Amino acid sequence: MNYSRRLSALPPYPFAEMEKVIAEKQRKGEEIISFGIGDPDLPPPKFVLDAMAKALKMPGMHNYSSSEGEKFFRDTVAEWFEQRFNIKINPDTQVCSLIGSKEGLANFTRAILNPGDKILCPNPSYPVYRQAASILNDNIPIEVLLDSKNGFKPSIDEIAQYDFSCMFLNYPNNPTGAVADASYLKKALDLCREKGAYLCYDNAYSEMTYESFKAPSILQIDKNMERSIEFHSCSKTFNMTGYRIGFAVGNEDLIRGLKKVKSQIDSGAPKFVQYAASEALKQYSNGKPPKETRDTIATYEKRLGLLVNGLRKLGYETEMPLGTFYLWVNVDGNSKGFASKLLDYGVAVTPGPAFGSGGEGYIRFSLTVNEKLVKRALEKIELAVR
Ligand SMILES: Cc1ncc(COP(=O)(O)O)c(C=O)c1O
Repeated sequence: MNYSRRLSALPPYPFAEMEKVIAEKQRKGEEIISFGIGDPDLPPPKFVLDAMAKALKMPGMHNYSSSEGEKFFRDTVAEWFEQRFNIKINPDTQVCSLIGSKEGLANFTRAILNPGDKILCPNPSYPVYRQAASILNDNIPIEVLLDSKNGFKPSIDEIAQYDFSCMFLNYPNNPTGAVADASYLKKALDLCREKGAYLCYDNAYSEMTYESFKAPSILQIDKNMERSIEFHSCSKTFNMTGYRIGFAVGNEDLIRGLKKVKSQIDSGAPKFVQYAASEALKQYSNGKPPKETRDTIATYEKRLGLLVNGLRKLGYETEMPLGTFYLWVNVDGNSKGFASKLLDYGVAVTPGPAFGSGGEGYIRFSLTVNEKLVKRALEKIELAVR
């Protein structure tokens, strides 16, 4: 089969491959503790389940939605955004629902770029920027290395040397767990302004932060919403990954372009899912997440703490991240070899290069397994590395 050049240029989606290997081992009866894909093990809160059950029985919920999303959903998003970030957005022109933020990230660049245009993509990163948003759209990813010396943020001096039409940034960051403060984001935004480029800010983990760190929105920096679009997700905040619901907010022209692309492709997230997400977002009070979300965050923090301490005892220099539920661990060498050794002992992790060549030397743990299993996994890791 001769697939298109753009499809042939893509590596397989890393997690699809990994899930196959794990499933095969499990089929053979092996116990695998999986820190692989970032898919929460905890269920959605009761208010999500109740809203979903109610919505399924409401009249009109079975029909097509629209790709921009229902008015009630967009209104709730605008209210949530104002509470959470103190930014007013117009629900009709500055909000678009998404079938998961991945969908929006992948579809957006088609609205604003032409074939051959360059996209600045952090490396390592969530693979969608480099692959779906760039290669699958006939754009050229300009990869910029994230390393620990720069706090896993692109060096502004380095990226100032490149020519690009669009930049992807993601903080709290997958896979490194790094966060960015307003002063860094301002520098990145100023650079985009200088270059006439757009800033796509992936804020899927805005709610998953620890200690006193509160993730900012790029729209708090780009106050006039000149050149930014921000992507949000209900997947991690409310353990709703399989519901497929997120939203984009930001510059009106960018949102209009995204809606136009989507109108040719999809007919919106199911209305009952938008209803459930909308009820979930309404649980915020004065910008603070509901108890259920706070409990989820506390659970991840505890698991991360356990793993960090356990790995330190084994001689791995790791720090508690300030955001996400990932632990990015320097294993000093061959990531794939290290990950496959752990897998032999029943622990699945993602080798760093699954997020780009800049991930070589690292592995990523997703803390989506309970404390008991984290402890058990540490015993297995000790056997593997000793
Ligand atoms: C950085 C980042 N952005 C976006 C997403 C996509 O989330 P969803 O499509 O479930 O909203 C993920 C999922 O893991 C992610 O890690």
